[in-house]
Amino acid sequence: MSCLVIEGQKRLHGETGVQGSKNSTLPILAALLLCEGESLIHNCPDLSDVAGSINILRYLGCEVEYGSNTLVCRAKDLDKNHIPDSLMREMRSSIIFLGALLARTGSASMCFPGGCDIGLRPIDLHLKALSELGAEISDDHGVFRCTVPNGLHGANISLSFPSVGATENIMICASVAEGTTVITNAAREPEICDLADFLNGCGANISGAGEGTIIIEGVNRLSGTRHSVIPDRIVASTLLACCASTSGKIKLNHVIPSHLGAVLSIFRECGCDVDIRGSSIIMDAPVRLTAPKIVRTMPYPGFPTDAQAPIMAMTAKSKGTTLFVENIFENRYLHVNSLLRMGANIKVEGKVAVLQGVECLHGAQVEAKDLRGAAALIAAALGAEGRTTLSGLKYLDRGYEDVEKTLRALGADVRRS
Ligand code: EPZ
Repeated sequence: MSCLVIEGQKRLHGETGVQGSKNSTLPILAALLLCEGESLIHNCPDLSDVAGSINILRYLGCEVEYGSNTLVCRAKDLDKNHIPDSLMREMRSSIIFLGALLARTGSASMCFPGGCDIGLRPIDLHLKALSELGAEISDDHGVFRCTVPNGLHGANISLSFPSVGATENIMICASVAEGTTVITNAAREPEICDLADFLNGCGANISGAGEGTIIIEGVNRLSGTRHSVIPDRIVASTLLACCASTSGKIKLNHVIPSHLGAVLSIFRECGCDVDIRGSSIIMDAPVRLTAPKIVRTMPYPGFPTDAQAPIMAMTAKSKGTTLFVENIFENRYLHVNSLLRMGANIKVEGKVAVLQGVECLHGAQVEAKDLRGAAALIAAALGAEGRTTLSGLKYLDRGYEDVEKTLRALGADVRRS
């Protein structure tokens, strides 16, 4: 089993770009099912979750080529409407294919995606919304089957929680439904806006993305388009956390700083100088960070749950105490045990974690249990004394494209063995 070997306390410096957003790419790849004709997706990150999506697209009958961060897809003759368990299991978020498959073929079946390490990940909001658009859904011993006996029609859908995935499934499905769909309490993440831009580029008529209410006027069909995926704000946040963990100074290029508002505010509270210049962020970290008082995860534009673990790792050596409140997922402190092995002082009680900054962390053998926890352990290891060996890289490779190469270019001593 491969692992990362990290020799800590090398100050990060220099500049780097940031990969395309995983959480923007995945719904866009699902939406390709709806687009008759050829589409080109640029800035498409080379990740195992992207490979999982490509496997599903090909299984369903799409022609897909991928190379040098560009994906070409022709979704002409779809010949299946069931996604097998083996492909569903490859990535947690395959539920995002439901709306597109239903809209394109009139029926869809797949197994319940099941939970993952960070939580139960229910899909009730997805299923309720799709039934409001005209889907009939039955549960056949863990496999749910959807049909649209009278076609898809617009609806007024009010989400009880601004679910990112449910918002995306509705947008995709409603884009070719008969009539108007209004989503209230919609997710407002930048990835929602990127999906809307992609769909509108294919001929959809979606307005209000990024606000709490999205209006979708159904159209007859969608064509192919060219689209470039937005930069990954969570990878950007992770690289900044790695820099701050080593008292470093780096410049991130090709980012959208406004997507990182809540995260940059925490870096500034920690004593980092953060300078925004167009599509670049320059951050200069102090020798020792000041602990932020509270990090509370919220739907966008609040502090993103995906950045909670890397920021916790960064603050482990800070001066002071930080209260973390994880409001989005019920089990998103899986990285804490490994941080404790490295000398951190953290106490977890339900969705709350209290972190008391320590003078230093020491390297250890640690194992990642989920995607952002893997990133957190890298950030901690970079700032720790001595060597850290990190296993569980299958989680890391789901969301970070060749992160060791990026970190080496910034001066880190990290290698995969
Ligand atoms: C997306 O997951 C992201 N994944 C997650 O990123 C991210 O953490 C999350 O949004 C929140 O921002 C992708 O975009 C592929 P949700 P998603 O539906 O859509 C509950 C990462 O690390 N919920 O907004 O699954 C759910 O249990 C990943 O890149 C229901 O109760 O998130 C959770 O508590 C992790 N019923 C909350 O809503 C539902 O039907 C937020 O979930 C759906 C969700």
